[in-house]
Order: sequence, then structure tokens, then C-alpha cells
Amino acid sequence: MSFDSSIKIAPSILAADFANFGAEIEAVEDQGADWIHVDVMDGHFVPNITFGPSTCAAIRPHVKTVMDVHLMIAPVDPYIEDFAKAGADVITAHVEAGPHIHRTLQAIRGAGCKAGLALNPGTPASAAAELLDLVDLICVMTVNPGFGGQKFIHSCVGKVTELRELIGDRDVHIEIDGGVDPTTAPLLAAAGADVLVAGSAVFRGGSVSNPAPYGANMKAIRDSII
Ligand code: DX5
Ligand code: ZN
Repeated sequence: MSFDSSIKIAPSILAADFANFGAEIEAVEDQGADWIHVDVMDGHFVPNITFGPSTCAAIRPHVKTVMDVHLMIAPVDPYIEDFAKAGADVITAHVEAGPHIHRTLQAIRGAGCKAGLALNPGTPASAAAELLDLVDLICVMTVNPGFGGQKFIHSCVGKVTELRELIGDRDVHIEIDGGVDPTTAPLLAAAGADVLVAGSAVFRGGSVSNPAPYGANMKAIRDSII
């Protein structure tokens, strides 16, 4: 996985048909998805439960692009090896998930994956300041994690600008997660984000048997960014 700063759309399978992940991933990639975003929730760090490493391993053969695994779990460290073995390209952990995020990021890279650091809406950009040489991606949550389809929190846009400045010339992606659609995407791209996660704004109106809306929805997001 080489670094690429162009805008990438990462559909979140949280908004896909949970009974049909393999076909959903293939459909959305055929329609132009750049990465596949996989939301892992534990019912403890966030108030919702999705799935774990065995589901990630099962969907891996269907992902031709990048499998971007967002861990909304605490603790993180005992499970890093399992998600790496499941084939994650990127593993993102939350700074709020435990006292030793520095160690967690080292362990993610040590397991052969790109390391992502996620910041909740209530966490300032400065929380990433000491970690910039240990991360390949910073995920700015623009909703409180746990559910798709929530309202975008506009006050997080300034954090993206601050992070891009802190990152300087390092090869670090800024990913946005939550409420990305054609109205918010241009603000985020202008602030310096390059990976746009979108669940409801990509999957709405389509299905495996009618995937064209997935392509149209992603085109609408891309076209909103000039
Ligand atoms: C929220 C998840 C997101 C979610 C985004 O906790 O991390 O990835 O799926 O959903 P939308 O795009 O619908 O806000
Ligand atoms: Zn996510």
C-alpha cells in the first residue's frame, strides 16, 4: 500500500446488507470505491456491537482495494494480531480507548499494518501531537462513534485544518468518519482530508441487485469537491 494523497472514498459496510457483505463489497468496488471501511464495535467502548476478526477474515477475499479496519473497542492491544491475521491493511485505534496509545500504534505497525489514530469529536487535535511519527492515518470522527446516519458535527472541520498543519510534510492520511455527503465533503477536502468514509451517503437507494446508485452516490461526493 503506497501513499497517495488524492481524495479517496471509503464506503462503510456498516450501511451495507449485513447478510451479504461479500457481494456488497464487490458491488461498491465495481462502482468505484477506493477503500472499504470496516467498523468494529464492542458494545463497551461504543454503545453498539458489530463483528470481530472472523468476519474481517471472511470478507477479506472480497476486498480488492484496501481493507480499512476501524476499531471502536477497548482494550485494543489483545486483538491487534487477530485483525492483522484477518488481512487488515489499516488498523485504526482510538486515542480514547486506553492509556497506552503509543504502544498500541507501535504494535499495529509491528503486526505489519498501517497504523491509524482516531479522535472522537470531543478530543482536540493536540492529542495527536506526540504520535505523528507513529501514524499513517488520523481519523477525525465527525459524529460520536457507534452508529451510522448521524448528523455531521461542523465544529470538527477546524480540527482537520489544525491536524494538516501539525502533520506538515509527513505521509499521513486524514480520514473523516461520520456524516460525509456532498454538502460536507467539499469543506473537508478543503481543510486537508483525503480519505472520506461514507456509509449512508453511499449505500442509500442501491442494493447488490441494483448497484448503480452506489456509483451515482460516490460520483455526487466526488463532484462536490473542486
Ligand atoms: C460510526 C462509524 C462510521 C459510520 C459512518 O461510528 O465509524 O464509519 O458508518 O456512517 P455515516 O456515513 O452514515 O455517517
Ligand atoms: Zn468508522
